[in-house]
Amino acid sequence: MSVTHSDTPAAPTTAPPKAGTPATEVTDGPAAGGAGVPHVVGRVDDVPPGEGRAFVAGGVQVAVFRLRDGSLHATQAACPHSGGPLADGQTDAAVLVCPLHLYAFRWSDGTCTGAAPPVRLFPVHDEDGALVVTV
Ligand code: FES
Repeated sequence: MSVTHSDTPAAPTTAPPKAGTPATEVTDGPAAGGAGVPHVVGRVDDVPPGEGRAFVAGGVQVAVFRLRDGSLHATQAACPHSGGPLADGQTDAAVLVCPLHLYAFRWSDGTCTGAAPPVRLFPVHDEDGALVVTV
């Protein structure tokens, strides 16, 4: 599989870019058209077990979670309800809970257990320790 290495440093959704960060268009959704493209966004070890971290994959802000069983999940970084930082949410094997208003989103299909719109889910995998997100 061909993997595109991102030249964009990981950036948390809650902090502004650091000075000297190259200007890069960052969006809240996948690039228009075509199949997804895999991007190396960092190392799997950048995400502590049981937590999430924000990254940029091909110009798309994503939140990647590494569950305690080692499995990986990726979703859009901003909550579809009101823009909450999903990377700061709590998760288990079934759902991700947004820290802002506590709506829960299913890892199975991105749907919300409440009334919020669904989140986008992105394929993510470990490639020899590299964290690869397809957007
Ligand atoms: S912003 Fe996420 S639940 Fe409201």
